Amino acid sequence: MNSDWYKEKSFYQIWIRSFKDGNGDGIGDLYGVYEKLEYIKSLGVDGIWFSPIYPSPNADFGYDISDYKNIHPDYGDLDQFKKVLARAHELGLKVIMDLVVNHTSDEHPWFQESRKGKDNPYSDYYIWRDKPNNWDSLFEGKAWEYDKVRKQYYLHIFAKKQPDLNMDNPKVREEVKSILRFWLDMGVDGFREDVINFISKHEKLPNGLPFLPAVNGLPYYKDGPHIYEYMEEFREVCSQYDCFQLGEGPLTTVKSALKYLTGPKKSLDMMFSFDHMMADCIYTEYVHRPFSLVKLKKAFTKWQKALNGRAWNALYLENHDHPRVISRYGDEKYWRASGTMLAMSYLFQQGTPFVYQGQEIGMMNIRLKSISDYVDVSSLTNFNRYHLKDSIEKRLERIWHSSRDSSRTPMQWTGGRYAGFSKKEPWFYVNPNYENGVNVEAEEKDPYSILNFYRKCLKLRKSSNVLLWGSYREFFPNDPHVYVYERRLCDVSCLIICSFSDKPVRVKLPKEYAGRKRKLLLCNYPRGSHSSGRLDGLPEGEQGWFRPYEARIYRVQ
Ligand code: GLC
Ligand code: CA
Repeated sequence: MNSDWYKEKSFYQIWIRSFKDGNGDGIGDLYGVYEKLEYIKSLGVDGIWFSPIYPSPNADFGYDISDYKNIHPDYGDLDQFKKVLARAHELGLKVIMDLVVNHTSDEHPWFQESRKGKDNPYSDYYIWRDKPNNWDSLFEGKAWEYDKVRKQYYLHIFAKKQPDLNMDNPKVREEVKSILRFWLDMGVDGFREDVINFISKHEKLPNGLPFLPAVNGLPYYKDGPHIYEYMEEFREVCSQYDCFQLGEGPLTTVKSALKYLTGPKKSLDMMFSFDHMMADCIYTEYVHRPFSLVKLKKAFTKWQKALNGRAWNALYLENHDHPRVISRYGDEKYWRASGTMLAMSYLFQQGTPFVYQGQEIGMMNIRLKSISDYVDVSSLTNFNRYHLKDSIEKRLERIWHSSRDSSRTPMQWTGGRYAGFSKKEPWFYVNPNYENGVNVEAEEKDPYSILNFYRKCLKLRKSSNVLLWGSYREFFPNDPHVYVYERRLCDVSCLIICSFSDKPVRVKLPKEYAGRKRKLLLCNYPRGSHSSGRLDGLPEGEQGWFRPYEARIYRVQ
């Protein structure tokens, strides 16, 4: 049976290649993870989500898998994984794996067989056509690539080296179930299911709208015709274990998410939605700080309200697919204040929080000198897809703001060489700001660091029934500078106030809070740190000034 254990927990996401190098070859690995399990535990999280650690040619850094039941030799082997799993469990940490079954690598033996011809047993494992339709891929040009061996085109919604599996083939679904069982039998606790809402394609593969670049085929593969049946089949396997299933749902709507998350045919426990990642239009529209707090709040509140009492939210601000959030929604000049404020803006919402490696120390975007320094396939495509009339410098600036590579630079452990990530030169650029205090070692020593603030928030969330279970309500949705939300359980409330402004702002309490007893639980500025009597939060009265990026949480009775 699947139970609800995940609701009280929080997770830490590891993108292993850049987490910690344990064997000195410049690449993060499971030896490094093993060394750092106590650190992860010390954050106050209860589990780990591993982005793919399987063998992969790394065309999409692990999301192109060539063997689902093994470990990439760069990262260790199955024995080392079992060691990590056992130690994580000893420490009370759950472990969830990434399940990437929309596509494989083109180097996967199934594809190598499939391309050999129509009478091969693997022939129908992928989607082959004599004539391609007009779909674009999300990552690399058109969605169809001609294969010289098979003399047909195969579908790839992502990169060329990521051919889409044919989920309509029952044999493919059996393979998926076998992968699930393999890891569940080993003792893992669940899966994050990659682009899972794309796995069922419209049988006829009709042409998409010609004028929508990148996503023109979307209506024919998002929440496709058999998706809920297939998901039920996979759920069936998972429910023989106490397994937690979290779907990634790019461009999912509340309505379609609720179909996965509720009812007798529920097939997922939670879903990562993307609405709140679009409060700046990083690829297509970036001019100068186009971030809109009102847009962000709308997205937050939409999901909080729609799922309340019916399903459960997966809360995140960062992962391996998005640039660093301080550089997007915060302010690098107010690194500490905006980094801690952003923590409060989402960790106290209703749902299960995810913290991405480096987010807890306030890592920020990297700005590489040339487009050729970037390695992420989607950044390279976006550079050549949008704003081609702009200068190279301007286009590069957009990549600085949007690239997934910014979240994939080596984790900054110390102020020493290579940020303590490795003894050897790391596989990818280290953000030079590790020398300016953006590292674990320095932040451990500082009681007011971003790191220690994350610890305080995660601890507070866990210790409070109001923050775990309470309902959500937003105040002043049109205020462009301040995000105010409430969590409430019976007659106890927590009120969270976050300033997204780099200037002092006047904040007032919602009307219903007038005259009620208020206790400050946490503030991201040290106590007594205000320099004048004016910048003092909400000392006695019902309104007051908040300092740049100040955030507070009150308990009110
Ligand atoms: C998901 C992953 C992303 C990957 C894509 C294709 O969105 O999070 O990293 O590139 O799927 O697998
Ligand atoms: Ca290594």
